[in-house]
Amino acid sequence: MKVIIVGANGAVGQTAVDALSDRHEVIKVGRSSGDVQMDIEDIDSIRAMYQQVGKVDAVVSAVGHGHFGGVAEMTTEQFMKGINHKVLPQVNLVLEGFDYINDGGSFTLTSGVLNRDPISGGSCAAAANGALDGFVVGAAVDMPRGIRINAVSPEVLEVSREKYDGFFRGHVHVSSEDVGLAYSKAVEGCLSGQVFIVD
Ligand SMILES: NC(=O)c1ccc[n+]([C@@H]2O[C@H](COP(=O)([O-])OP(=O)(O)OC[C@H]3O[C@@H](n4cnc5c(N)ncnc54)[C@H](OP(=O)(O)O)[C@@H]3O)[C@@H](O)[C@H]2O)c1
Repeated sequence: MKVIIVGANGAVGQTAVDALSDRHEVIKVGRSSGDVQMDIEDIDSIRAMYQQVGKVDAVVSAVGHGHFGGVAEMTTEQFMKGINHKVLPQVNLVLEGFDYINDGGSFTLTSGVLNRDPISGGSCAAAANGALDGFVVGAAVDMPRGIRINAVSPEVLEVSREKYDGFFRGHVHVSSEDVGLAYSKAVEGCLSGQVFIVD
């Protein structure tokens, strides 16, 4: 299969690269890294990426960020960071991808743990994750041409332990290998409309 992995150079994207690149042709996409550069927050840049890469069998997205802070102090603008930097970019990757994804292909988006196991200050990220999880469940039932869509929702990765130090007290940390298996199931398996939780 020919597989686009957006955010391939990141902690999460790298797990998908490691899980899939032995068996498939992986096109690594990043903002400044990878085989192809794209700004997923710019729809013209998404279109240019698809035009450059051409037809593919699978698209994986492992990007996004939001606002961290208490809900009582949060502004609408801060809340919208989760929508604008995590939800919309990944949804747009799907909406713009239909002309490029082969019959029976798949889209795999990335959400995260915070809408099932919240932390203080995490409501923006929780909402973004919930939106993405809901999108794949809702979209799966009317995807054309046998195309599948799923989300991977990991706990904090071992390799990201330092980055999130102090924020996720008591949370388990998951291995990159286990997260990679979820991307393998999403891309190489047969399920659709699923949120693959890695806890
Ligand atoms: N890390 C965790 O423990 C964890 C757990 C659960 C969920 N998640 C979620 O997984 C996603 C990825 O997290 P991460 O920790 O892997 O992030 P990361 O290590 O910071 O990597 C982000 C990747 O996305 C790319 N990227 C960033 N902005 C982009 C843009 N505008 N257009 C295209 N590519 C862009 C970066 O490319 P460049 O390298 O070229 O800049 C990089 O490859 C996030 O949504 C995060 O919430 C992470």
